[in-house]
Amino acid sequence: MKKIAVLTSGGDAPGMNPAIRSVVRTAIYKDLEVVGIRHGYKGLIEKDFFDMNRGSVADIVQRGGTILLSARCEEFKTEAGRKKAYANMKEEGIEALVVIGGDGSLRGVQKINAESDIKAVGIPGTIDNDLSCTDYTIGVDTAMNTILDAINKIRDTATSHERTFVIECMGRDSGYLALMTGLAGGAEYILVPEIDFTPQEVCDKITQGFNRGKLHSLILIAEGVEAPFADLNKYHGSPGMAMGDLIRERTGMETRVTILGHLQRGGSPTATDRIVASRMGAKAVELLLEGKRDKMVNYRDNSIGVCEIKDAIKKTETINMDIYNLANILSM
Ligand code: F6P
Repeated sequence: MKKIAVLTSGGDAPGMNPAIRSVVRTAIYKDLEVVGIRHGYKGLIEKDFFDMNRGSVADIVQRGGTILLSARCEEFKTEAGRKKAYANMKEEGIEALVVIGGDGSLRGVQKINAESDIKAVGIPGTIDNDLSCTDYTIGVDTAMNTILDAINKIRDTATSHERTFVIECMGRDSGYLALMTGLAGGAEYILVPEIDFTPQEVCDKITQGFNRGKLHSLILIAEGVEAPFADLNKYHGSPGMAMGDLIRERTGMETRVTILGHLQRGGSPTATDRIVASRMGAKAVELLLEGKRDKMVNYRDNSIGVCEIKDAIKKTETINMDIYNLANILSM
């Protein structure tokens, strides 16, 4: 094998740059040529390629986002689009590909392996940490720290005004970010799509807390929460807004809603994200040199390993109930 390529796809995540840097420098160290592909799968179809060298990844280890740019690409879901992508890679002499992204991006890796002779492997990169077979996806630590910083700041003003705050965080269908930052931030209530709840029980707990002398209540809610107020979500625009309105109506308490939004996706990657990303990037190149395909680099028990892509994208991991119960006990 002489030439590999690397792309980032889907929602960007802090740590993608250190992962790119690691792929490029490990590959060069192993005497491989590296092609960078801009705009994810769209760049494969549009042949948005450029040669990468040591200098192409200089001064990026500390930067959020992705220097390769990212996109969600509908055309790659069509057979015609993918054929164009394979032809472009062939023409360029690309024999293998590293894709850094979340579950949608990994499905693309599966297609490439099934339909072409290009060997493709994946690196999990998403703030959602919603993949199976890995404890960790690049970006989640930075996102958690960003959310935590926001919770700390909101707590200050919530206490001063004796208010209830609903804080909505990202995660798509997963409650991971809400759960972990709810525990770390000392939230009174954590609402995630994986666990049923009624708005009334939330209101009751807040009221009890204030009656006991609490100066504020913080409720962490994941953006993926639908039940039990799916209709209200539509009406109010988001689960956080719906929950805020319900609390205000039913408890009469002064309630504010903060939707953290895309600031959770930015920022300089934390030490953990940089370290894991660097280790994963090197491992991906190693896998390709061993002739592996259709694998995802994973992180389990502080070790970098490998799993099948098909297992990584299975929705099997559920919320950690021990952590949820602990957060509940500690939020008394
Ligand atoms: O998958 C990462 C993520 O940030 C999710 O948490 C969120 O639901 C989604 O991407 C937002 O996507 P977009 O940036 O396309 O609005």
